[in-house]
Amino acid sequence: MNTRMRRAAVAVAATAMAVSLAACGSAKEAGEKSTGTTTGSATADGAIKVGLLLPENQTARYEKFDKPLIEKQVKELTGGKGEVVYANAKQSATTQNSQVDTMITNKVDVLILDAVDSKAIASAVKKAKDAGIPVVAYDRLAEGPIEGYTSFDNEEVGKVQGKALLTALGDKAKAGDIVMMNGSVTDPNAALFKKGAHAELDGKVNVGKEYDTVEWKPENANTNMAAAISALGKDKIVGVYSANDGMAGGIITALKAAGVSPLPPVTGQDAELAGVQRIVAGEQYMSVYKPYAPEAEAAAKMAVALAKGEKTDSIATSKVDSPTTKGVPSVLVPVVSLTKDNIKDTVVKDGVYTVAEICTDKYAAACGSAGLK
Ligand code: BGC
Repeated sequence: MNTRMRRAAVAVAATAMAVSLAACGSAKEAGEKSTGTTTGSATADGAIKVGLLLPENQTARYEKFDKPLIEKQVKELTGGKGEVVYANAKQSATTQNSQVDTMITNKVDVLILDAVDSKAIASAVKKAKDAGIPVVAYDRLAEGPIEGYTSFDNEEVGKVQGKALLTALGDKAKAGDIVMMNGSVTDPNAALFKKGAHAELDGKVNVGKEYDTVEWKPENANTNMAAAISALGKDKIVGVYSANDGMAGGIITALKAAGVSPLPPVTGQDAELAGVQRIVAGEQYMSVYKPYAPEAEAAAKMAVALAKGEKTDSIATSKVDSPTTKGVPSVLVPVVSLTKDNIKDTVVKDGVYTVAEICTDKYAAACGSAGLK
């Protein structure tokens, strides 16, 4: 068999498996539920299998925080008996769809899903539901019949970024142009960050250039920033809205390469270690600190409840509508604007980083003047 045929055969086998599981799933559901809610089939002893699907691994948060936090919570909530099966889609929506298929084949009890592409994943969410596997959308609101959602108030994230940029610009807000570097169009959060930022910035700044960044990649932000500098002129850029820290890194590299000095204020998000260090060094103005522990905890609680056949309503604190599914039980964790002044009171206080981690030799002097000891 050549590779393509083999792949096709595997795909057919996977589909057949999904179909037979789907038959079991819906039979069970039809007999037991009238609400349309899918609940898992795990036994009450906690020996559940949670499938965790994360979208990429260039942004530090996923494998540094989200994954270990969810694993820890699942262990705690199941008396050490629960297991997390992990897959990272590395920015490919196609890969993520097949990862869901594999998890269905491997009979996980529940899925925690951070979608690469919230629309493209909808059919996989439906397939999981039909196979009796409930799905909790994590951080990004996946379309399709999800049973729960945990994230932050993402429009508020954009507002926090926009407000901070205005504070940094002060009376120079209209003295030149700003460049806006938004996230990926496949990520519904990116649209919310952009909406929130525009709500604060529109009318108060001149947006010289604006980009939606393919796959959220720092290298794409770097290329777009270099193009913006050429088009607008290096002395004309007064500030840069960057939707996250990874892209801020690429943007700051482009500004430095073009000889822009002093650097204009640049925003970010995620409180990545490299971002926090740039803030200390005065190269990046701010980030948005999103406490990942409560987000992960809520997702794990929802997943474990669903796997045991319970609902997510008692864990949820609000309801959210997706384009396909209304009234999804949700937990949205509040966010904090992170600048040089509150590093100690946020990421250090919460134990995200120690001062020693932030203040390596390269940043020792800057840490000293920022009062980080
Ligand atoms: C997340 C951000 C992250 C970005 C890129 C967004 O959906 O909320 O924290 O920086 O995706 O992965």
